[in-house]
Amino acid sequence: MGSVAAMQLELPTSLAAPDTAPARLRVDNVSLRYRTPSGSTFSALENVSFEVPDQQFAVIVGPSGCGKSSLLYLTAGLAEPSDGEIYVGGAKVDGPGADRGMVFQSYTLFPWLTVRENIEFGLKRKRIAAAERKEIVDFYLNEVGLNNFADNYPKQLSGGMMQRVAIARALANDPQILLMDEPFGALDSQTRMQMQQLLLRIWEHSKKTVVFVTHDIDEAVLLGDRVYVMGARPGRIKEILDVPIERPRTMDMVMEPDFIRMKRQILGLLHDDLQEAH
Ligand SMILES: Nc1ncnc2c1ncn2[C@@H]1O[C@H](COP(=O)(O)OP(=O)(O)OP(=O)(O)O)[C@@H](O)[C@H]1O
Ligand SMILES: [Mg+2]
Repeated sequence: MGSVAAMQLELPTSLAAPDTAPARLRVDNVSLRYRTPSGSTFSALENVSFEVPDQQFAVIVGPSGCGKSSLLYLTAGLAEPSDGEIYVGGAKVDGPGADRGMVFQSYTLFPWLTVRENIEFGLKRKRIAAAERKEIVDFYLNEVGLNNFADNYPKQLSGGMMQRVAIARALANDPQILLMDEPFGALDSQTRMQMQQLLLRIWEHSKKTVVFVTHDIDEAVLLGDRVYVMGARPGRIKEILDVPIERPRTMDMVMEPDFIRMKRQILGLLHDDLQEAH
């Protein structure tokens, strides 16, 4: 009677493994309160709970001030929730760590280091040997198309190039999750579109779990597997929407009915929030 077990063992892991892998990110009843100068408390996030499965591209949209950046800071371990917990790969977040890569809107490269040195910064801290560092940095330089700029300093790069270095630097550490806070917000629309395609391509290679904050609804639908729509006052998750658009995604998909329907749905949710505020 061992034959059934033997047959199961022979199944490819993708078929045999039950779909019960723990979420890569779990935000569990998180609240964040700030004390105002007048001494009262301000609720930036209230009872926020959601999960992001492994390898998913999660996008967060919401009105200004609804706590999107706060949520990423808490996940990065740069601040602590007033209540609740955050888990990355099953481990409770308790301070910053190399398992979470961050890319911000503002340029955060080290100006005194070259492109190569910026990308290998975390690897050096992890004491990875020089030959392996070079291999990893060369791989990511190629991924972001900056092979010919390895020895440039950040001030010799365009905004889009700087963000490409920031993405390469975050991925070179092989984080469990990539946290991106409006990374393309400061770029012109053409560069932004190029960066979206580049990020999608890299994500399809790396299969990292991504949490991406944006104000741009086209960007949210183009990139995301799921869109988490937040509301303000207090900051909370209003709705979680699956994006029913096949991959690979291309720019011309923005004209498709499913894309437009999704956009309208998100706009409606955001509009409700604006009305509630007035
Ligand atoms: N250090 C702080 N002290 C007090 N209040 C703060 C602090 N940091 C953020 N806040 C408040 O918390 C709320 C959430 O801020 P957060 O930056 O997370 O919003 P956001 O959704 O990222 O906004 P935006 O879309 O404009 O970037 C805001 O109302 C903000 O004023
Ligand atoms: Mg923000």
